[in-house]
Amino acid sequence: MSSVLLEVKNISKIFRYGLFGFEFKAVDNVSLTLEDKPFIFTVAGESGSGKTTLARIILGVHTPEYGEILYRGRNIHRLKGEDLIWFRKEVQAVFQDPYASFNPLKKVYDYLYETAKNVAKISENEIEANIEEVLKRVGLSLEKVKGRYPSEFSGGELQRVSVARALITRPRLIIADEPVSMLDASLRVTIVNLFKEFKDDLKISFMYITHDLSTAYYISDYIAIMYRGWIVEQGPVEKVFTEPLHPYTQTLLLSAPMPDPKWREKWLKAIKLTTSIEEKEFLAKGCKYASRCPNAMKKCFEQTPLEFIVNGVKVKCWLYEK
Ligand SMILES: Nc1ncnc2c1ncn2[C@@H]1O[C@H](COP(=O)(O)OP(=O)(O)OP(=O)(O)O)[C@@H](O)[C@H]1O
Ligand SMILES: [Mg+2]
Repeated sequence: MSSVLLEVKNISKIFRYGLFGFEFKAVDNVSLTLEDKPFIFTVAGESGSGKTTLARIILGVHTPEYGEILYRGRNIHRLKGEDLIWFRKEVQAVFQDPYASFNPLKKVYDYLYETAKNVAKISENEIEANIEEVLKRVGLSLEKVKGRYPSEFSGGELQRVSVARALITRPRLIIADEPVSMLDASLRVTIVNLFKEFKDDLKISFMYITHDLSTAYYISDYIAIMYRGWIVEQGPVEKVFTEPLHPYTQTLLLSAPMPDPKWREKWLKAIKLTTSIEEKEFLAKGCKYASRCPNAMKKCFEQTPLEFIVNGVKVKCWLYEK
């Protein structure tokens, strides 16, 4: 059996716009290797950086123009029949807006039932017990859920139902795309705590997509920072947060309520942030971050940076070229 759970190999996803077929890469040559041991892997980065597109590619919703995704050694875009059902059981998703994930006219229990019957293929007489078990896991009960419509739940409760639904198939990987961004700060912790608990107790791995760097720091093992379709830095969360290498990661972390790492003062003085998002940056030959980067050198505007490994962290930046 493969010791790698998920391998994302040089993935690019191109979207085309307008009359002239303007093309841009929402995900641009992204690679990741996630080992087959329970982990929480955060993907962070500003709006539009390609996080959801990457998640959809891994879930098999989008087909990438370039590259391939291997899940336990198998190319997910080639799975058919029984193999596809196997993949859908193994890899589940939780999305941002719990109210949008549920049809308001359909009882919440029916969603759980359908997942149990159609995806998990649980036999009829065991379905209710299974649903009861997963609801308990997320701190809800069958009595509380049965017979009720989505509008009768709070956002936090409904998101816990989404997590329970994902658990029914006994997945090995859950991809959670901004699962807590619609919730109050106090409730966010209750949801992300569940992820941590399920990683430890149920050996489920998570890809946690978020803007919320404080919850990311709290629960993740690894983090990848996305910028305009690139992963600019990836590595163990402790290293990336305390000694961020990429200038963009450093900027991003300035806004996070973390204990002040030692680089913070220095960076605040150096920073020159421009807020405009110009399309030409997407098309630039060199580094996509160069026009915002206080450390940019001539080379950064001319050549796409390579990925360098520094202390076990991968960083796509010319500053680290030896
Ligand atoms: N189906 C689509 N068709 C065309 N363009 C798309 C499509 N989906 C996403 N995009 C574009 O791709 C880019 C990346 O979008 P994506 O939703 O992946 O970003 P994101 O990092 O998830 O942002 P957010 O943090 O706001 O959720 C954006 O510029 C977006 O407009
Ligand atoms: Mg998104």
